[in-house]
Amino acid sequence: MNIIKRDNNIFILETENTHYVIGIDKTGYNHHIHWGKKCNPDDYYINTVGDENSNNTMLDEYKQEITPYGQTMYRDCDIKAEFEDKCREINLKYIGSSSTDDTLSITFSDKYYSLEITLHYQIFDGLDIIKRYTTLRNTGTGRIDFEKISSAQFSLPSVKPYTFRNTNGAWGGEFIETNTVLDGGYAVFETRKGASNHNNSPYFIAYHNADENSGDVYFASLAYSGNFKVSCSRDLYGISRVILGMNDFDFSHTLNGGESFDTPPVYCGHTQGFGDMTRQMNRFCVQHLLPKQFNQETLPVLYNSWEATGFAVNAKQQIELAKLAAKMGVELFVMDDGWFGQRRDDHAGLGDWYVNEEKFPNGLDELINAVNELGMDFGIWVEPEMVNADSDLFRKHPEWSYHYPHREACELRNQLVLNMTREDVQDYIFKTLDELLSNHNIKYIKWDMNRPFSETGAENLQNPKMYSYLHTMAVYNIVDRLKEKHPDVAIESCASGGGRCDLGALSHYDQAWTSDNTDGIDRMTIQKGYSLLRPAKTMRAWVTDIEGINKPCSLDFRFAVSMQGSLGIGGDLTKYSDEDLEICRKNIAFYKTFRDIVQFGDLYRILDIEKDEVLLNQYVTADKSKSVAFLLANGTRFYKKRMPVRFDGLDNCRNYRLTIDGKTYEKSGAYLMNCGIILQIRGVDYNRVIIIEEIE
Ligand code: DGJ
Repeated sequence: MNIIKRDNNIFILETENTHYVIGIDKTGYNHHIHWGKKCNPDDYYINTVGDENSNNTMLDEYKQEITPYGQTMYRDCDIKAEFEDKCREINLKYIGSSSTDDTLSITFSDKYYSLEITLHYQIFDGLDIIKRYTTLRNTGTGRIDFEKISSAQFSLPSVKPYTFRNTNGAWGGEFIETNTVLDGGYAVFETRKGASNHNNSPYFIAYHNADENSGDVYFASLAYSGNFKVSCSRDLYGISRVILGMNDFDFSHTLNGGESFDTPPVYCGHTQGFGDMTRQMNRFCVQHLLPKQFNQETLPVLYNSWEATGFAVNAKQQIELAKLAAKMGVELFVMDDGWFGQRRDDHAGLGDWYVNEEKFPNGLDELINAVNELGMDFGIWVEPEMVNADSDLFRKHPEWSYHYPHREACELRNQLVLNMTREDVQDYIFKTLDELLSNHNIKYIKWDMNRPFSETGAENLQNPKMYSYLHTMAVYNIVDRLKEKHPDVAIESCASGGGRCDLGALSHYDQAWTSDNTDGIDRMTIQKGYSLLRPAKTMRAWVTDIEGINKPCSLDFRFAVSMQGSLGIGGDLTKYSDEDLEICRKNIAFYKTFRDIVQFGDLYRILDIEKDEVLLNQYVTADKSKSVAFLLANGTRFYKKRMPVRFDGLDNCRNYRLTIDGKTYEKSGAYLMNCGIILQIRGVDYNRVIIIEEIE
């Protein structure tokens, strides 16, 4: 890891296996020179071109790190602004740089106006991940109005069209992969819903002929939970570019004299294959991105009451569930929606975060104490950013939800979004949650958010078009403050399932609820999408009573799916037979023996349920001494499959032991990875969890 500055105009970010190279030419323009495998640092040079003809300008052809709108540049820009005299273009010139062992900052200023822009880069020991963000500074006195502020621009090296992987999901179908070959023009992945949604993801993954183990893969993930835009393009000359950042849709931001703005960061990397991309990002997130309290902690097995009891929670029935959960080995009992205000269903109660006395006549502590006495921690559900019109809070403060004075506010799930850009709203939410945590022994909060924004009038703001950013920052800030004051409380991000689990959310929340779809079959696909660029330990996965909507899947099968993240239980345990309870107990005990490998290990996706009819995912410890593999199939066709199951991620030269279907094998890593174990994988509901351990 190193930052090399050559002649003060070529900057080389040297990561574990890659070079990212930036150059500044004599006129002060910035150039992107290289991103990929390492070359001799002395070989890098800046290739300036002149305008080819009056319709093909040099600026349009330059690969750059930042491209403001202006001059003869006509493609998508990073930054667009208007100065006080109505001039609407920026003309940047390099003014200097500074660096440390792991950071580099390159600063430009407008040739005439008082605007400075700094590009920031950071590299990390042992990894190929680079952090990037941009600072805008108004160094004068007049205002500057920005219409677009992106975090980073990337130029990709090959002239061949890249395929861009993103997600095309929905509620109940999050993280469903979409692969778009971009031959020309633009492909945009974005959200306008106010928060990073279930549909597209705030990242790009660009590749050529890549699979899990090989092929050039470039990726960058924006750490931001508000409206985002990922704009990918390819021109006639074969230059593929991507710009990521806050969406310029319904956006503007003003910097007055002396003010500055830091964009949300982007984490990018180049790897060979998707597997290494996931492993790099997983390690990076655990080591550097996740909040510090729990990043190195093994997450507990939790029980969540939602699918069992819905809104109809009460002390007696929750205690009954808790007793059964404790017997199974659950470590954290979470009561979901329904415990507060007049919350009988989704029509009322949001905003009134006091306990419902009909349901809990002796207060929350009766339940919490019972849970604690059973040896479990207690967690609770809240949806702080929302309000029902039928609530004391709304009756008292109708002005607290986003609205326009002469428009009706649209309700979704019978609720409205609180205007978290208001300080009084922030104070109310912090105070309420702080009191809840201070007055009760709560160790976990599931912070939900169940609708996108609408009627985002925020008359309290000078510029309501910043609402998405300010709302997002207010949420992050409250989560951070709660964590600071209650460092032993873990906080989960939930948004109708996986509607807000971008890397921005995961920089503040400890984990995320992946999807309300807990069908074991669908989950295999959803979980693959989740874990592409997010750490496995943050992926909450419950075993529920959904026995397979389209194909049957047993409790064991559902466990084998959910044990690939942070395990949870979500069924109505009161309806379980003794035999079912025993299956749960055994699986939970088994999970505890290897969960560290899943939560902190390297993931190898070997067989893909969509493409291969069989799923084989293997998690391996960093020292390659232990591993757990999940082998699942549900509905193989044509009498398939007697097949060699080949593992991955092991050490060729070491010997390992594994037992499957009652037979123990002792083989070298080379054998297990190249030759494999022949297994008969046939029919529905096939599930095996295989421990592979080094033989001393
Ligand atoms: C949506 C979440 O995704 C569910 O898990 C549950 O918490 C409900 N909200 C409660 O209203």
